[in-house]
Amino acid sequence: MKHIIAPSILSADFANLQREIEMLNESQAEWIHVDVMDGVFVPNISFGFPVLKAVKKYAKKPLDVHLMIVNPEKYIEEFASAGADIITVHYEACTHLHRVIQSIKNTGCKAGVALNPHTPIEALQDVIADLDLVLIMSVNPGFGGQQFIPNSLTKIKAIKQMAELKNPKLIIEVDGGINELNMESVIRAGASAIVAGNAIFAANDPIQTIAHFNKININLSSV
Ligand code: DX5
Ligand code: ZN
Repeated sequence: MKHIIAPSILSADFANLQREIEMLNESQAEWIHVDVMDGVFVPNISFGFPVLKAVKKYAKKPLDVHLMIVNPEKYIEEFASAGADIITVHYEACTHLHRVIQSIKNTGCKAGVALNPHTPIEALQDVIADLDLVLIMSVNPGFGGQQFIPNSLTKIKAIKQMAELKNPKLIIEVDGGINELNMESVIRAGASAIVAGNAIFAANDPIQTIAHFNKININLSSV
């Protein structure tokens, strides 16, 4: 099975965003992961619609938009028209999660739900069949460059089991603290999409690092 690499531009050089996006276009990354933070759901503010639109102008790959915001239902259509291809909302931020998922699908985008490290996977039992993607947070959301939480591996295995029963096509994406050393264990646990920010953008040669991430994929292609 081929695994998707989704570099997070949270760790990119914002003063040279066009150059960073063009670098990702040339790389072996499949998606571009876009972290939107509102300073309320998470203790950090990143960027919003104008930056997403600017990224869309240059990106030749799908934009995987991770909304770390409260009341995401208010902004789904606007994120879709700003250029999102996949929209992921947090379980913890949605009172009417089922409705939010349907509204993402109505825009034509793929629909994802993210779980914070403390949220049990059972919370998704009744909506998992409706989803294109589940995002397992392997750090507490809000910042790039944090340490991978080891218990995430148990969660990935458990959501993989649930998906096999209820939604075999579900993409299991994992986000936070992934690097060249722990990526293999994340894939072996059942991840099908890997987000990496710091490990890619802080590297001397991001293109090479993405290629290496991809090679780990290929070596594990029987998983
Ligand atoms: C964290 C974000 C992540 C972050 C990952 O809140 O959702 O996407 O950018 O960055 P690293 O790979 O540096 O942990
Ligand atoms: Zn993210």
